[in-house]
Amino acid sequence: MTSEHTEKLHSTARALVAPPRGILAADESPGTMSQRLEKVGVEPTPEARRDYREMLLTTPGLSESVSGIILADETFNQELSDGRTVPQACADAGVLPGIKVDTGAKPLAFAPGETITEGLDGLRERMQDYASRGAAFAKWRAALKLDASLPTDRAIHVNAHALARYAALCQEAGVVPIVEPEVLMDGDHALERCEEVTSGVLEKVFAELAAQGVDPAGIVLKPNMVVAGLGFSDQPEASEVAAATVRVLTQRVPESVPGIAFLSGGQAAEVATRHLKAIAAESTPWGITFSFGRALVDGALRAWAGDPDKWKDGQTALDDRVRANSEVLKR
Ligand code: 13P
Repeated sequence: MTSEHTEKLHSTARALVAPPRGILAADESPGTMSQRLEKVGVEPTPEARRDYREMLLTTPGLSESVSGIILADETFNQELSDGRTVPQACADAGVLPGIKVDTGAKPLAFAPGETITEGLDGLRERMQDYASRGAAFAKWRAALKLDASLPTDRAIHVNAHALARYAALCQEAGVVPIVEPEVLMDGDHALERCEEVTSGVLEKVFAELAAQGVDPAGIVLKPNMVVAGLGFSDQPEASEVAAATVRVLTQRVPESVPGIAFLSGGQAAEVATRHLKAIAAESTPWGITFSFGRALVDGALRAWAGDPDKWKDGQTALDDRVRANSEVLKR
C-alpha cells in the first residue's frame, strides 16, 4: 500500500471514532428490516424501507453526534425521495457512508447452533464498486453463540479467519473495515463467562488479522460489551461491566487500533448508554464510542411507524438517543 493509501485508511478510522461522535448502525438486511416494520404495522416494501432510512438520515443536526452511518446494500443503491443517491445524502448530512458487506450468518456444518458469516465470494470486486461509489467504511459481523459449551474453537476460528479476509480486502480497496466479532447476549450466563469467551474470541481475531496482513491502525473494532446474559437474574452494575470490558480489551487489543465502537446487542437503550458512559470514563489507549443499532433506532421506528405526519417525531426520538450517547463521551 502506498503511504497515501495507508494515511487515508488511518484518518478515516480516526474520524469514525473521534469523540463525541459515534456510528449509527442502520444496516438491517431487507428481511430483518421487514420484520421490524411489520411489528410497527408498516407494510414492508422497498419504498417503506427507504422512507424509514431517509427519515433517519435527514434528522437535523445528525452529524453533531454521528460520524458515520452503516447501510445495507439495498439502501446504498436507493435514491431518496428528492432524487439524491444515498451516498450523496450522507455527504450532504456530514456523515460518512458505510456498507455492510457480509451476507449473513449461516449454519456452520457439523456445529449445531453455531454460525459462520458468509460473503467473501466476489468481495474484492464488490469492495471496489462500493469504494468507487463513495463508501468510506464497511462492516462484517460474526455472531458467536454463548452457552455452557459454546462457542466451539472451530466456530471462533472460522469466523475470525473470515473477518480477517474481509478486513484485508477492505483495506486493499481503501475502505476502513469495521471488525465486528459479537459474542451474543442471549442466555442466563454470568458476566465472568462472557469475559472469558470475549477474551478468547478477541485473541483469535487479532491473531488472524495479523496473520493476514491487516493494518490495525486502519480498522475500527466493534465488539460486544462484557455483560451478563439477558436472562441472568442478578445483572451487574455498570461499573462492573466497564471494568470487565476494559480489562479484556486491554489484554487483547493492540494500542495501535484507533478506536472501539460498541454494539448494543439487545440491551435496552438506556442501559447501553449507562454502560457506555462507565466504559468511556475509564482510561484507554483507543477512542471509545458507540455503533449501536437497536439502542438508537428502536424508539424512532416506533414513533414514526410509517406515518408521514410522525416523521419529525421519529427524528426527535433518534436525536434524543444519539445525543444521549454522544453526551457521555464528552469529558
Ligand atoms: P445492535 O446495536 O442492535 O446490536 O446492532 C449493531 C449492529 O451493527 C449489529 O451488527
